[in-house]
Amino acid sequence: MSTASLPITPDYDAWPVTVDIARVDVEPNLVTLTWDDGRISRYHSIWLRENAADDSTINPATRERILDLSTLPAWPTVSEARIDEAGALALVMAPEGRSLRFHPGWLRAHDYDNTADPRAPLVPIETWTGGADAAPDTLNASGWLDAEPASLDDETILAPALESLLGKGLVRLRGLPTEPGTLAAIAERIGPVRSTNFGTLFDVKAKHDPDSNAYTAIALPPHVDLPTREYHPGLQLLHCLENTVEGGQAVMLDGFAVAEALREQDPEAFATLTRVHWRYANTAKTSDYVWHSPMIVVDDQGNLDEVRIADFLRGPLITDFDLVEPAYRALMALQTLLRDPTFAIRFTYRPGDLVIFDNRRLLHARDAFEGDSGHRWLQGCYLERDEVRSRHRMVERRRRERQL
Ligand code: OGA
Ligand code: ZN
Repeated sequence: MSTASLPITPDYDAWPVTVDIARVDVEPNLVTLTWDDGRISRYHSIWLRENAADDSTINPATRERILDLSTLPAWPTVSEARIDEAGALALVMAPEGRSLRFHPGWLRAHDYDNTADPRAPLVPIETWTGGADAAPDTLNASGWLDAEPASLDDETILAPALESLLGKGLVRLRGLPTEPGTLAAIAERIGPVRSTNFGTLFDVKAKHDPDSNAYTAIALPPHVDLPTREYHPGLQLLHCLENTVEGGQAVMLDGFAVAEALREQDPEAFATLTRVHWRYANTAKTSDYVWHSPMIVVDDQGNLDEVRIADFLRGPLITDFDLVEPAYRALMALQTLLRDPTFAIRFTYRPGDLVIFDNRRLLHARDAFEGDSGHRWLQGCYLERDEVRSRHRMVERRRRERQL
């Protein structure tokens, strides 16, 4: 079937028609489509009216809605429905008497009648444990930066990296350049960088007058970065430029796997950590960040949303008197799991390595290193989870455009 005469959709996405509409049944408030493969999808008239793509409903330049439903003369109903020559759903809506056409590929992709969980993650969450032989998903990214952004060559690295990131919360790229500053160009392949008081790119190396434990040679316990912020960054990137020191191994844990283990072994401790608001504080010489949050955040279905674990950035607990001891008991149950080596992946950074991880899910740690045994220099930056999801959707969109 030609797609040339299909109507536009209320977005800029591509919706190849993989299944045609076989039949349409109509009631004033409801349109029922039967597809060629037997699927039945029901759409309310009110929903169809507001999701039309004509220029009384959207601004065709932005594809954003301009219609205010409450300005319609009455509840919109369907007075006529048919499938037109192009295969589109053609409706006449009353009482406006307005003819509207709907793209079948778009209707199929937005079939709420058959969608169990509209908030399901883009890639299924796969929790993982570590152990002696475990390693992060690793991609050879040499030459990646030579590829044009948004080209197929770019996607060869980007697409699997985003899959690992969304599913496992972690990916390692190898073979990248080691010039200081290249991290910015790499990060922007995904999306804009989130600047913080540590800069846009920050240098992780032993420094003279450190404003973070990260900028010393001491060990760092498993933590997320910036738990002191109302929302801590969704993503952290660490790019190794130099590493000739003794020690300084990287350690990564899946905070969701640890939290699930706690839920399983000690449900009371788990519940306490989803309830008590801890104080996270980073009181430095020229800045003063404080936020209060549960250590484990679940959504309204009980699925893990984020963990906020960083002992060195936890301020004094200020909560109900009766919650203090249960809170510390729960904290120690969690800390015991964090020390269990079966959760940890350990590895040594090589120059040109870049790890990208979900900073609201993963915990990262580092062994101490001998400051004067050589040089250890990582550059880091933050992005938001939104950027990964947007980039992943764009990769998928381009794949669909190629099918048109
Ligand atoms: C950090 C950090 C880890 C490392 O900079 O936040 O945790 O391996 N660094 O140095
Ligand atoms: Zn850190």
